[in-house]
Amino acid sequence: MKALVLSGGAGSRLRPITHTSAKQLIPVANKPILFHGLESIRDAGIREVGIVVGHTAPEVQDAVGDGTAFGLSVTYIPQEAPLGLAHAVLISREFLGDEPFVMYLGDNVLLEGVARFVERFERHRPTAQIFLARVPEPERFGVAVLEGDRVVRLVEKPAEHISDLALVGVYLFDAAVHEAVRAIRPSWRDELEITDAIQHLIDAGLTVRAEMVEGWWKDTGRPEDLLEANRMMLSTLASRVDGEVDGESRLVGRVVVERGAKVIRSSIRGPAIVGPDSVVEGSMIGPHTSIYHGCRVQGSEIRDSIVMEDCVIEGVHGLSGTILGRAVHVRRSTTPPVGHHLVVGDQSHIELL
Ligand code: G1P
Repeated sequence: MKALVLSGGAGSRLRPITHTSAKQLIPVANKPILFHGLESIRDAGIREVGIVVGHTAPEVQDAVGDGTAFGLSVTYIPQEAPLGLAHAVLISREFLGDEPFVMYLGDNVLLEGVARFVERFERHRPTAQIFLARVPEPERFGVAVLEGDRVVRLVEKPAEHISDLALVGVYLFDAAVHEAVRAIRPSWRDELEITDAIQHLIDAGLTVRAEMVEGWWKDTGRPEDLLEANRMMLSTLASRVDGEVDGESRLVGRVVVERGAKVIRSSIRGPAIVGPDSVVEGSMIGPHTSIYHGCRVQGSEIRDSIVMEDCVIEGVHGLSGTILGRAVHVRRSTTPPVGHHLVVGDQSHIELL
């Protein structure tokens, strides 16, 4: 069994973060989303992974390398444009050979990992195994219509309500999928849809099994999804203090303080994580907050947020539901003229009180 991980795509709904960073590398609970996926693939006993990359290829390759750090052997497969998930399978033919494989969308986060998914596929050996979750906005996903436990119809981004069972971004296939991805035509959004390829398998009379996911699952396409994924993954952390916490500070609940981090005269309410070499002083952090490495938070209050590396936050209260990209400075204005002074990049979102 091999794995195909998709790590291309524009990440348009996550701008401005994705102007400078691949969406799959945004940290959730201080770990790039993609790493959560790669680790769950390794934990399912798979070693050979193909990562399909687009214009952010150099960044992804820098972060993942040859996979050794994850206990994986990684092959990069360049996709010249985001032409669809089935297109990604099409261009990965040589890497995949005739082996069965798990396809994992690199921006999906699953609490339960993929080991059970692989086990289910091996036990039943269908042509394709899909996983479903009930969602409130099915029009944002591919959806499945079932008859009993048989999948009868799949529709990508349905305009009319036909089902609220969304396709989760983990699929298992045998070699029959290669014929299907060659047979289908591009969709209205000009992509070769994996959803259409699976429908092709159904129409050819092949077995497509569906199961519900058991744990929590998220496609991290939008800022609110990232924050939810952060909350969820933070809640799985075990408390650990490898950095320094002074006697005037208080840690409550699940809190991780990484090596080289300093917590001074502060209160941290878990679930929360302070990354390596970050300093938190005279501040209130959490719950549901992750501060990545090299940050300085002083005299501030921040909860339900993701702060990426090398940020500085000074004298700012009431930050919540916030995502800060790399090396962002946010501080209370002390010099005239009095007012909000903003230097922000294209397509940023700011809500001021
Ligand atoms: C893709 C698939 C869709 C699936 C979703 C899961 O959507 O096309 O069927 O439900 O991933 O994350 P996209 O990210 O291309 O909008």
